[in-house]
Amino acid sequence: MARAAPVAEEIAALRGTRPSSLKELLTHRSFSRLLRAMLVSSLGDWVGFVAVASLVADEGGERLGALAVAGVMLARLLPSVLFGPLAGVFADRFDRRKLMVGADLGRGAMYASMPFMPGLWAIFLLSFLIECLSLLWTPAKDASIPNLVPRRQLSNANSVGLITTYGTLPLGASIYTLVAGASNGIGAHVRYFGLHPQFLALWLDAFTFFFSARMVWGLDLHQNRVARLRAGAEAKLNFNSIVREAKDGYRFLAAHPMIRAMTVGIVIAFAGVGAVISLGPVFAQYSLNAGSTGFGILITAFGIGMGTGMGLMNSLARLLEKEKLFVVAMLGTAGCAVVVAAMPTLGLAALFTVPMGVGTGLTWVTGYTMLQENVTDEYRGRTFATLTISARMALFAALVAFPALAAAIGPLTFTVGGRELDLSGVRIALWVGAAVVIMGGMFSWRGLRRSRLARPRPLSLAPRLHKREGAGVLIVFEGVEGSGKGTQMELARRYLESKGLHVVATREPGGTGFGDRLRETILDPATGTVDPRAEALVFAAARAQLVATVIRPALDEGKVVLCDRFIDSSVAYQGAARGLGEQDVLALNAWATQGLFPDLVILLHIEPEEGLARANDERDRFESEDLAFHAKVADAYLKIADEHPNRFHVVDARGTPEEVHGRVREGLDRVLAPPDAGPPGQT
Ligand code: TMP
Repeated sequence: MARAAPVAEEIAALRGTRPSSLKELLTHRSFSRLLRAMLVSSLGDWVGFVAVASLVADEGGERLGALAVAGVMLARLLPSVLFGPLAGVFADRFDRRKLMVGADLGRGAMYASMPFMPGLWAIFLLSFLIECLSLLWTPAKDASIPNLVPRRQLSNANSVGLITTYGTLPLGASIYTLVAGASNGIGAHVRYFGLHPQFLALWLDAFTFFFSARMVWGLDLHQNRVARLRAGAEAKLNFNSIVREAKDGYRFLAAHPMIRAMTVGIVIAFAGVGAVISLGPVFAQYSLNAGSTGFGILITAFGIGMGTGMGLMNSLARLLEKEKLFVVAMLGTAGCAVVVAAMPTLGLAALFTVPMGVGTGLTWVTGYTMLQENVTDEYRGRTFATLTISARMALFAALVAFPALAAAIGPLTFTVGGRELDLSGVRIALWVGAAVVIMGGMFSWRGLRRSRLARPRPLSLAPRLHKREGAGVLIVFEGVEGSGKGTQMELARRYLESKGLHVVATREPGGTGFGDRLRETILDPATGTVDPRAEALVFAAARAQLVATVIRPALDEGKVVLCDRFIDSSVAYQGAARGLGEQDVLALNAWATQGLFPDLVILLHIEPEEGLARANDERDRFESEDLAFHAKVADAYLKIADEHPNRFHVVDARGTPEEVHGRVREGLDRVLAPPDAGPPGQT
């Protein structure tokens, strides 16, 4: 079977898709804003985490200190268990920006007020509430990233996001030490700070959340219109409807083997990290006899590996499909863990810890990216909430279970052939951890194989019939209903003919006898509900006929072909609005047209409400869809245009036909009169 990555790349090259660079992402206005919020608030979060633990340890005193720290951990875990499944419903239902800003303000206020709380219980309660708000923030953020950055930047965005969230842990701990030290210093003058070295750190944390709120407030998460329309069309939110929607989310997860496989894989990767963190100190100190600094070295090696793995994903995804990469990374991680657990010295263990980190980082980023690429906006909040909660629980469970297992087995040494073999409980527990990861990897592989079989890959069968050099030009008009494509095409035809060009004007679906019959059926409201895949195939069939019998012959004669709608209609309507996904629709159509993509797409942009108001009373199957459907189409068009700046000319479709035509002409002139060549199609 052909590899997906080169196929996707070939299509991207044919369509003129913009390449993705990390620099472009980091200078992306909205993303860099969100990144600043994540960076500062995760840093603050780690500072606060250490400060709260230290605060309750002080309050608990020598006798109860350890118990108090456990109490805070429990308070932070409890919300996931109690409300976790419901949190995602909020991220899908409400304005994600307001949700995130509210959660930030709430968390900031709570951290700021912690120093004034009367006792341990109040701090437990605040920790619990803070975690509840984090439970809203994180899925809302993960679900928003695909709306914020172009699709091609998703893996970069995830790498950067994950590095920001988890890479700031060591820095956060150091900052806490600095701030607490500073507080002690001030304590020489102001006794209050000397007595409570944690307070300054807590206020610093509060400040980071306020900063994050400010950053997020200025973001446009592009969710608003579709989400508002959807929320408006649904019943009011009450307990029953929340439970129903949460169940809906789980049903969605259960029905998609690929999404389930990814989720399980990521959760198990988290459990693996839990095992490493909890067993690491004992492993380094006693199994490797590396003293107290050994663990630091192992963690550093792991961190370096993880960062590298996250950074490598984009390059590796070119060699191997993401789904294969995901499973290979998981199995590789487990293999390295087996080796690490068997190592006799710190140096060797650290050496193999690096590739183990690479595998973990890769698993993580590949899984996140595939989820974001494949889950539609509607379910994304719930999917990521399920993921966040399950991952957190797996992490905590691993933190407890692996040391317990190691302790239960205890130290074991064998003498084989005169040599002493150390088979401590820690090593065995690490192997058990690796076995769990291997099982997870196998589970994911089975799920992925099922979804791979169901995926169309017809492009691998396509002969490379690209457009001949020197042939005519294909110009397509796209837009939502009522955007005035018909009128503008007619004006464009006259304009081009006035310049002496040979023009063929046609439309989709239709333009051929066979196509017209398909058009009639697929647009007729009496046809009723059609399965989205069936619908995509009908449009692709009409397109194949049109390309083979009308468009290619005209292009071969050097003519200019104007077409009312083409592949991007299928990407927007069937791929985005009907939820089939861009990749599958593109692969299908690349086969149907044998790799023919337009030279220029004129996108007549208009708000769908305005467009629908222009449509006549007799509505076809598409015009009768609700406003949310058309809003999705409009958003999808803008996103596609953003990804293909050289092929798209976006035109404001409001105003008189002549005004709009003036704007259309700028696009036409761009492709038809390149500065260094005469216009094609001229006779
Ligand atoms: P039209 O009347 O603007 O030509 O519209 C045909 C309808 O078919 C329009 O509502 C969009 C829809 N359509 C798709 O959903 N997918 C496609 O690939 C094409 C060409 C049209």
